[in-house]
Amino acid sequence: MPVIALQGIRGGVGTTSVTAGLAWALYALGESVLVIDFSPDNLLRLHFNMPHENPRGWARAEIDGEGWNQGAMQYCDTLAFLPFGQVTPSERQALYSRHLQAPAHWQYNLAQLNLSRRHADNPFRWILLDIPAGDGPLTQQLLATSDHAILLLTPDANCHARLHQQTLPAGSHLLINQFSPASQLQHDLNQLWNQTLHGVIPVVIHRDEAMAESMAMKQPVGEYRPDCMTAEEITTLANWCLIHCSDAVS
Ligand SMILES: Nc1ncnc2c1ncn2[C@@H]1O[C@H](COP(=O)(O)OP(=O)(O)OP(=O)(O)O)[C@@H](O)[C@H]1O
Ligand SMILES: [Mg+2]
Repeated sequence: MPVIALQGIRGGVGTTSVTAGLAWALYALGESVLVIDFSPDNLLRLHFNMPHENPRGWARAEIDGEGWNQGAMQYCDTLAFLPFGQVTPSERQALYSRHLQAPAHWQYNLAQLNLSRRHADNPFRWILLDIPAGDGPLTQQLLATSDHAILLLTPDANCHARLHQQTLPAGSHLLINQFSPASQLQHDLNQLWNQTLHGVIPVVIHRDEAMAESMAMKQPVGEYRPDCMTAEEITTLANWCLIHCSDAVS
């Protein structure tokens, strides 16, 4: 059961959209997937047609004294998502204090999922984690627990500067999103990164209006427009994951 953490080198690079798209692409390739939102912004659910006013999610369930997995929602037969849930700022602080006191909490939760898979109670073969940018305690916990980390970048000067002054998740794969080949700067940065950085995934996701529209349509891009450029690129990414991240599949 490979656990793949996806995180942006900064906010807004497209982590949530790519995570939702990758979950769909793996599902479309016949895999079973659970995708979990760790961002308090609680936006991943909007790629899976969840009504805006529904407060359900793992953080909401934990605050209400229920099991974290009570917040999970089935999207289709072998694809489910677990929203963060709606919580107030003070509830969020309380939750973070709890996680500070129990730093192995999510390591334990994911280990339980893996165990239940062996006993056939858990139908999911892949777990994808949508992790917000930054390095809070929960983020560090999740990155340490994951089998693979994919760090998303947009080829601009901001991401380039961050690449050289931020501590990147150990052993992370780098994924370029929102590539516009018409931009000379983007073209040059893409080439430079491919020549000088370790771990760049050989799939580039272009900037594509269909990707932007898919969130407005509350669908993963591959469901909204299966024949668009980004959907095809994310399918290639899913195949790359099948080849390079399947080592822990049981
Ligand atoms: N390849 C792409 N082409 C066009 N638009 C994109 C692409 N990827 C993401 N977007 C758009 O960029 C915006 C930000 O995307 P998204 O919410 O996925 O980013 P994020 O990194 O998760 O942001 P946050 O840091 O707020 O969690 C969205 O409006 C989304 O539709
Ligand atoms: Mg996001």
